[in-house]
Amino acid sequence: ILDTAEKVGDYAARHVIKRIQETKPTEDNPFVLGLPTGGTPLEMYRKLIEYHQKGEISFKDVITFNMDEYVGIPENHPESYHHYMWDNFFCKIDIKPENVHILNGNASDLTEECAQYEEKINKAGGVDLFVGGIGPDGHIAFNEPGSSLTSRTRVKTLAYDTILANARFFDNDISKVPTQALTVGVGTIMDAKEVMILITGSHKALALAKAVEEGVNHMWTVSSLQLHPKAVLVCDENATMEL
Ligand code: GLP
Repeated sequence: ILDTAEKVGDYAARHVIKRIQETKPTEDNPFVLGLPTGGTPLEMYRKLIEYHQKGEISFKDVITFNMDEYVGIPENHPESYHHYMWDNFFCKIDIKPENVHILNGNASDLTEECAQYEEKINKAGGVDLFVGGIGPDGHIAFNEPGSSLTSRTRVKTLAYDTILANARFFDNDISKVPTQALTVGVGTIMDAKEVMILITGSHKALALAKAVEEGVNHMWTVSSLQLHPKAVLVCDENATMEL
């Protein structure tokens, strides 16, 4: 628990850097990093760019896998997660474009796209560190309430609460928010060697309480991390109001 959202972002950035450096990645043995979108991780990305510009970290031997992507909006749409990632992070660091993996929400066969994504993660040797956020309903990636805790990457219909929460990115017009997304599964996240979830703001307080103070259950999918051998939730004070 840290005082502010800014400190959460800085902590997360330093943790990512520490893990990359400890692993001493090479071109043949890269570090595999899972990444989130949303408002919460923006500060982490800003800090990672700052430390990169100071020469403290290189991403040339890092492979990334994003958690999720909307179905049916073009990659260059300002709210697509492709656009978010390139705009907020990738175009400001030295990552090789071929090392970036983001689900294609416009693939002609979405089921095949998801199966191939799982294969690519496996081929990369699994995810070393999955960084994530949560929705106010406790979802990780787009694993909405009721998701199987052993789920893999798949198409998911978004919960009404998530559509409402994300309408702020779509001119506050819920009719513009995509109704489906591709997302890594809870099982995919659980397979990562380490998971770090960032939780800030009082609107996430109930979800945080459900995540850590009640049993593992599929209605608050973040609670599955109670069973992970190496998971950390990094929170600001506001998010801890219900603990
Ligand atoms: C979306 C994403 C999640 C993210 C969540 C929280 O639902 N699919 O991966 O954790 O938003 O976003 P924010 O950080 O903006 O609250």
